[in-house]
Amino acid sequence: MKAKLQELYKNRFNSENGQFYFAPGRINLIGEHTDYNGGHVFPAAISIGTYGLAEKRTDRKICLYSENFPQLGVIEFSLDDLDYRKEDDWTNYPKGVIRYLIEDGAVINHGVNILFYGTIPNGAGLSSSASIELLTGVILTDLFDLDANTLDLIRIGKLVENKFIGVNSGIMDQFAIGMGKKDHAILLDTNTMFYELVPAAFGEYAVVIMNTNKRRELADSKYNERRAECEEALKRLQEALDIDSLGELDEETFEANTHLIKDETLIRRAKHAVTENQRTLKARQALKENDLITFGKLLNASHYSLQFDYEVTGIELDTLVEAAQKQPDVLGARMTGAGFGGCSIALVKEQSIPTFTQAVGTAYKDKIGYEADFYTAHISDGARKLDIEEAF
Ligand code: GLA
Repeated sequence: MKAKLQELYKNRFNSENGQFYFAPGRINLIGEHTDYNGGHVFPAAISIGTYGLAEKRTDRKICLYSENFPQLGVIEFSLDDLDYRKEDDWTNYPKGVIRYLIEDGAVINHGVNILFYGTIPNGAGLSSSASIELLTGVILTDLFDLDANTLDLIRIGKLVENKFIGVNSGIMDQFAIGMGKKDHAILLDTNTMFYELVPAAFGEYAVVIMNTNKRRELADSKYNERRAECEEALKRLQEALDIDSLGELDEETFEANTHLIKDETLIRRAKHAVTENQRTLKARQALKENDLITFGKLLNASHYSLQFDYEVTGIELDTLVEAAQKQPDVLGARMTGAGFGGCSIALVKEQSIPTFTQAVGTAYKDKIGYEADFYTAHISDGARKLDIEEAF
């Protein structure tokens, strides 16, 4: 991989001086659509992600190339013009990061060349965009010796999604990708930003990622609609309850106050946010106690709630998850990420993974008409500069 990227870089930028960087993708074990509701999330960084090879230029041009979109060639813009432009395609993500770093006071007085190469399947819901954002942040911080710390880069990545791209997403993806730690999941309270690294020790089990291969475009999806529905439900609850977010409610208090929300759909949306937050806390406890049976049941319950109360799954995700849940040696399965397509995860006994993928793959192809893909998740460290000696 290293040699291949160096060669590509040389072909594109006529230089051998690029430095290597990497930002992972992420899975979310549980705690879905809770991060913009002041709840808990439980994601982990994974070993598939985005590689970058980069160096400073002497002029003020930003020159970006992605080996995932070779047909677009090198996309160029000037440090003096960092506005969103549709035709700049995927480079709007790095452009937004550079823009907000500068607005934050960073001194970036030269252009850069960056070659990107992502091993995350595009549109799979494993956060390829947050991976590009954090990668760009780490590159710029290193090349220009900026003061920005990981939390600044996380905040800037989220700002890019919210203000530059127009997706009203929460903090989970950027946080997981910035703060990831090998073999650990991150329990983050999005209300306080307090977090805890929990060993992701699954014994004889492994997390299998199942890709529906149905692309999920966040900007086009009902993501913003769900968020607005939760905000409306919260507003109605606030007429009688002294709360700032749905994440502050336990199930009992919520059930006792649903009459305030009035609308049946809004009640189900809020119910998901409340119950999912509680499940996430229970899952943290179960993982700490090595109670994988309970952990798996919580994964199943999470999917059920996302399917029926939050309605963000769809036939592809439901088919994969239901087929997975039926297999022997599976403790639980659920969609991961925003939903509407993308990936799901299952906790599968390692020795049974080949028969599992065979059976679930066949069931999926029979019903949906095209293949699903399967990968075993390796939980990895967050975004970083790579040591040139490091093998990859
Ligand atoms: C996307 C968003 C996250 C989070 C998840 C759903 O990945 O970027 O902020 O809301 O969806 O849990």
